[in-house]
Amino acid sequence: MCGIVGVLGKHEVAPMLVEALKRLEYRGYDSAGIATVNGGKLDRRRAVGKLVNLQDLLVHQPLAGKAGIGHTRWATHGAPTERNAHPHRAGKVSVVHNGIIENFRELRAELAECGLAPETETDTETVAMLVSHYLESGLPPVEAASKALGRLEGAFALAFLFDGEEDLIVAARKGSPLAIGHGSGEMFVGSDAIALAPMTDRITYLEEGDWAVVTRAGAEIFDESGAPVQREEKRVRLDQTQVDKAGYKHFMAKEIAQQPTVLAEALGAYLKGDEIVLPSPGLDFTEVDRLVLVACGTAYYACLTAKYWFEKLARIPVEVDIASEFRYREPPVTKGTVALFVSQSGETADTLAALRYCAGRADRIASVVNVETSTIARESDLALPIHAGVEVGVASTKAFTCQLNVLLLLAIKAAEARGRMAAAEKSELLAQLRALPGLFNAALDRDGAIAEAARKISEARDVLFLGRGMMYPLALEGALKLKEISYIHAEAYASGELKHGPIALIDKSVPVIVMAPRDGLFDKTVSNMQEVMARGGKVCLISDARGIEEAGDGIWQSIPLPDVDERLAPLLYALPAQLLAYHAAIAKGTDVDQPRNLAKSVTVE
Ligand code: M6R
Repeated sequence: MCGIVGVLGKHEVAPMLVEALKRLEYRGYDSAGIATVNGGKLDRRRAVGKLVNLQDLLVHQPLAGKAGIGHTRWATHGAPTERNAHPHRAGKVSVVHNGIIENFRELRAELAECGLAPETETDTETVAMLVSHYLESGLPPVEAASKALGRLEGAFALAFLFDGEEDLIVAARKGSPLAIGHGSGEMFVGSDAIALAPMTDRITYLEEGDWAVVTRAGAEIFDESGAPVQREEKRVRLDQTQVDKAGYKHFMAKEIAQQPTVLAEALGAYLKGDEIVLPSPGLDFTEVDRLVLVACGTAYYACLTAKYWFEKLARIPVEVDIASEFRYREPPVTKGTVALFVSQSGETADTLAALRYCAGRADRIASVVNVETSTIARESDLALPIHAGVEVGVASTKAFTCQLNVLLLLAIKAAEARGRMAAAEKSELLAQLRALPGLFNAALDRDGAIAEAARKISEARDVLFLGRGMMYPLALEGALKLKEISYIHAEAYASGELKHGPIALIDKSVPVIVMAPRDGLFDKTVSNMQEVMARGGKVCLISDARGIEEAGDGIWQSIPLPDVDERLAPLLYALPAQLLAYHAAIAKGTDVDQPRNLAKSVTVE
C-alpha cells in the first residue's frame, strides 16, 4: 500500500507531484506529503487525511523546486499523523516508501548506539536515518543509499532525494512495484504507470531487487548485487490509464455502469467465433490433474465461483485458498498441478508470495489479472488479462465480473479439451455469454428498485446474505461489498448452513438478502427463506420474475432480474449486489470510493 512518486522536471514539480499522487490515492489516503530540493535545500509539506488537505496547505505554503518526491500513505507503523507522514527526513536526505521494513527495530537500536534517535513511530524514518548516517560518515549520496539498501529487510519501493542534489533521485524496488518514466529532459519514478501517465507513456519497470540512479539524462539500473542491468523501456497504453469519473458521482458508479461494455470487449478479446483463444503460450488442459486457485478478497470469491465451473463443466479437481493462508501452510503442490492466481492489481503481496511458493513446484503458473504489466502477470508462465480497464473504486466491481468471465472461458476451454463439452453445447453456452452484456443492461435498469431496497437495508446494523451453489460465493461477495463501503456488518452463509447456527441471529431487525435464480437448487433455497420468514426475518429476494412469483407471499423486498442461464447467473447477480452496497453507502453518507481503513492495492501482508 502507499503510493510514491518522484520527478526531476524542467519546471516547478509540486503540481506534477500532486497530480501523480491524485492518481495514486487508491493505494492509501491516510496522509500525503511532498518534498522538493530548491536552491540546494530540502523542504517538505505534509498533511493528514486525503490529498485535498495537502493541496490546501500548498496554497498557503507553496513549495518551490524542480526536483521532488511525494507520497500518499496507508498507515502501517504509527498513527496517521502529520509527524508520521512521508516524506521522512534525516539530515540531508528525504525518503518516501511503500512497504514495510521488517528489521527497522534492529536498525534503530544500532543507530541509537551512535546517538541517533527517531522522531516518528514509522519504520521508514529509520531508512532515512541510516542513509543520513552513511552520508555523515563521508559517503556520497548514491553510495550511502546503496549501502543502506543492502541493510534493509522486508518489502519496499523507495525514492530518495538529497540536500544539494537537484538532479538526482535514487529509487529502489524489492517486494513493492516501482516504475521509471522517461521524458524529454525530465525523468520520473512512480508506484505505477498510471501515476506517471500525464507526464509520460515511456515506462521501465524495475525488477525485484533493482535500484536506480535517476538523473534528467536517464536512469542507470543495478540489480541487487550492484551489477548494472538493462531493463526494457515500454510504451504504456494510455487507455489503460484514464482515471476520470466520466460524469458519474463516484468511480464505483462509473465502474458498475461500465460492465456491459467491458464484458463485451473482454469477450471480444478471447473469442474468435466459437474458439476461445488464450494468449501465448496457452494451456493444455488434457495434462492438468488438479487446479489450485489462490487470491484475496473479491478475487478469492471469483475463484470460489470458478471451482463450481471447473468441477461441473470440466471435472477437474479444484482447490481454492486465501493467499495469506496458503503461503504459510506449505501445502503440497504436486506435478500435474496448475496454480492459478487471480488479482485485479497484480500486486497483492500475499497473492504474489503464494505465486512464488508455487513457482518451481506446480507444472504451470497462470494468472488472471487486470493490470497486465503487474508483477503477478510478469512472474506467471501464462497471464490472462481480464480487460476491465482501470478500476479506481476501492470496492472491486467490474474487475470481479471480468475475472468471472475469464475463469468461465477457461473452464469451458478445459471442458472442451477434456471431452466433457460437445461443440453444440459449447456454442450454445458461448451464445448465452455473448448475450450477457444485454442482460447486464437490463439489470442496471433495476437501479431504482435496488436503491429503494438499499435505503431500507441501510437502516440495519446487521445483514445476512444467503446463497446456494454458485450463489454462495456471490453471497460472500455481496456481504463484503456492503461492509467495506457502508460499514454495515454483513455476513454470508451457504443457505443450507443456516440452520446449523446462524439462524439464531434472525429477528425482524436483520434483513436477509437471498440471491436465488430459479436454478436446480431454487426450491431448496425457498425452503430456507421460509425458515427465515417463519422467525420474523425480513427477506430481500433477488431472483427472476418467476422465481419471485414462486417464492410466494411474505417477501419484504424483491429485486427482479432477467432470466439467465444458471451457469452464468453469478456474473449477472453480481450487479445488484454491487448496486445494493453502493446505494446503502450513499444512504449512509460514507465515502464510497475511498472507504475508511482500506486501500485499493494491498502491497503489504
Ligand atoms: O488486487 P487484488 O484483486 O489482488 O485485490 C484483492 C483484494 O484486496 C480486493 O479484492 C479487495 O477485497 C476489494 N476491496 C474488494 O472490493
